[in-house]
Amino acid sequence: MLAQFLTSFQTACAKGQLIKCTLGKPTGAAPDGLKNIYLRPVVLKAGPRIAWTFRFQTRDEVKNFTAEESVQNLETRLGTQFLNADLFSTELDASLGISKKGKAVFSQKKPSQTTPADTSHDRHKQRLLDPAAPWLHALGITNKAGQVLPSAQDKWRQINKYLEIIDSLLRTHPLPTHAQIADMGSGKGYLTFALYDFLSQQHGLDIQVTGIELRQKLVDFCNKTARAAGFDGLQFVAQDINDYQPARLDMLIALHACDTATDLALAKGIHAKAGIVVAAPCCHKQIRRDMQASNELAPILQHGILEERQAEIVTDGIRALLLEANGYKTKVFEFISTEHTAKNVMITAVGNKLGSIDIRQRAEAMDKVAALKAGFGVKEHFLEHLL
Ligand SMILES: C[S@@+](CC[C@H](N)C(=O)[O-])C[C@H]1O[C@@H](n2cnc3c(N)ncnc32)[C@H](O)[C@@H]1O
Repeated sequence: MLAQFLTSFQTACAKGQLIKCTLGKPTGAAPDGLKNIYLRPVVLKAGPRIAWTFRFQTRDEVKNFTAEESVQNLETRLGTQFLNADLFSTELDASLGISKKGKAVFSQKKPSQTTPADTSHDRHKQRLLDPAAPWLHALGITNKAGQVLPSAQDKWRQINKYLEIIDSLLRTHPLPTHAQIADMGSGKGYLTFALYDFLSQQHGLDIQVTGIELRQKLVDFCNKTARAAGFDGLQFVAQDINDYQPARLDMLIALHACDTATDLALAKGIHAKAGIVVAAPCCHKQIRRDMQASNELAPILQHGILEERQAEIVTDGIRALLLEANGYKTKVFEFISTEHTAKNVMITAVGNKLGSIDIRQRAEAMDKVAALKAGFGVKEHFLEHLL
């Protein structure tokens, strides 16, 4: 019976007919907390593989095996660790049930699904995160059934938009191996967890992500949640961004870090020559306090709201220019519609040759910074001071 099931699986793999296979009814011999295993075909750079998703009570782990390795793995686990297996191919549905006494029953019937499996490893492009991921529930985004809570819809949209941006950045600017990533001012960690899950589980990257956050309580909570999720490369440190001294930094993230905390983070990224910088600034108090415009905009900046918006533009515009002066190519764009949050500007910057900055590019950018400061009566931009 087991042999029949394995042959059906092997044939489905060989003929490219496999849609999915699931293992259920774990026994006491299954690894602790392992509930199910889901198998699906994927095509990786290395060739066709079977992606095995191990669903534990509080986390998922994904491993890729060849068809041959998968058959061996199924043979080892069926009847010992799992008593039930269902196979879905474009040709047939097959089922194997094994009693506790070891009696096996095999059955097969017409296929319930005939659409071939989507074998792209990039299936995440349609769905960047699995809402059933247990950490989303721990962070209060989803309910126990993995449904996004009505109160968390904006957060969920923001998380997904953020991952879309990261995905598109990495397509043109891939991370090096064993990349070191810091998320400064990580708060409750929504976006830090999302980034780690997306890069490690969906992209299969071996990364280390560190969340830097002043508030010890949040750090403890995030570390506990990361350990429960089995995210070994994700940790949080209770520290001021200013005191963070990374030995190496490949990607710097600073999302909604308050006022000049964004500048502290950007300066760390620039000094460490992080190849990718992603910042979504928060409040812009420093420039607003100092701004004494003497240019043609002066008459309209007597209106508080216009002055506030202008201060944001000047702050973030100069940040982008300072990144350019330090060898980066920058983009400033709307992160997420203002309908969902007022903090909606994102700055991304990538640098390829940060070790040898183009002197002309630097001089041009610094001239623009000086002109802006003069026109808006800004004595000092905090990031410039830090650099
Ligand atoms: C508005 S929250 C943003 C959290 C998260 N990045 C997000 O976008 O959801 C800003 C966080 O930055 C932290 N923070 C502010 N200044 C900091 C500093 N100098 N060092 C470390 N953390 C800081 C605050 O404690 C707060 O949790």
